[in-house]
Amino acid sequence: MMFVALVFLIGTVGAGSTSEECPRILDAAGISKMFAPMVAHSIHSLTLEDIRYFFKEDATEENGVPTVNIDLMSDTRILPNAPLAGYDEDFSTQSMKTFDLVMRNMNRTWWGITNFNTLDKLTHAFHMAEVWDSAAEQYRLVKRLLDPESDICGCVTNVAENDILNYLNLMAFKIKYPGITSGNKTLTDHYLESRERRSADFDLYDIESRYHMRYALTLSGEGLQADFDGIDFDLSDIELLKDIAEKLVDDEGVVTVHADSAEHWEVWRKMVKHGMEESGYYDLAVFMFCMLN
Ligand SMILES: *[C@@H]1O[C@H](CO)[C@@H](O)[C@H](O)[C@H]1NC(C)=O
Ligand SMILES: *[C@@H]1O[C@H](CO)[C@@H](O)[C@H](O)[C@H]1NC(C)=O
Repeated sequence: MMFVALVFLIGTVGAGSTSEECPRILDAAGISKMFAPMVAHSIHSLTLEDIRYFFKEDATEENGVPTVNIDLMSDTRILPNAPLAGYDEDFSTQSMKTFDLVMRNMNRTWWGITNFNTLDKLTHAFHMAEVWDSAAEQYRLVKRLLDPESDICGCVTNVAENDILNYLNLMAFKIKYPGITSGNKTLTDHYLESRERRSADFDLYDIESRYHMRYALTLSGEGLQADFDGIDFDLSDIELLKDIAEKLVDDEGVVTVHADSAEHWEVWRKMVKHGMEESGYYDLAVFMFCMLN
């Protein structure tokens, strides 16, 4: 599939594209229909150090790769650039740096990912590294063929129009309010009430421990395509929660198994092995190349 797609990248320098033309342009470039949700999932926890390690050694803090703010307390849901993670560079391998970062922040609440135990968090961190590693392989091929000034790149980098920012915002909601798109009214009403009652000191931890829900790692492709019509992510969490809970139901978020035993690990093992469609790596490689060059 990948090589077929790569052929389309050649000779596509264009004369400026409008966003109406983008679906056709991206389709012709072999970009999948799941481009926006796939890329959003793949970049939500990306750091500048990871970008430098996997994609471009001299990437700067102005890298243009938007991410979900790891500080869940903040009103800023999405950061415009992948930030520095603060890896301990005394460690020599990427895996030890990743491990150390998770362990150092093990006891922080409202930070990173909600309702994951430490092994879940480690699994997530290493899973993301695997996604980036696979995409990096394709990045090297894409780099030889794609022109950063092409229409393809114009479409791919227009994150405000191509739904990447929308999906990142949706992810931020799923991380902060696990099960918010599950369609389970008992749960979503609880979020609404809690936020309205005490918006200032809303205790996410309380919800985490009472409801064993969390955002799902699964990326099977099903239930991922959302309709963001009428949803304005410039609004605050409180203003948006009801709409998200009612309009963006995808039954996702009700994963109750933690990576706490060999038996449960089998569930996670399947998830991280088959979580991403092959086309997702190509989509991500094209996105990263266009963004960083
Ligand atoms: C820190 O987090 C771990 C893992 O969630 C937990 O077992 C431990 O009790 C926490 N320790 C403190 C001091 O909160
Ligand atoms: C809805 O969520 C509540 C709270 O987590 C839970 O007790 C209940 O079993 C859920 N209902 C369904 C149908 O999943």
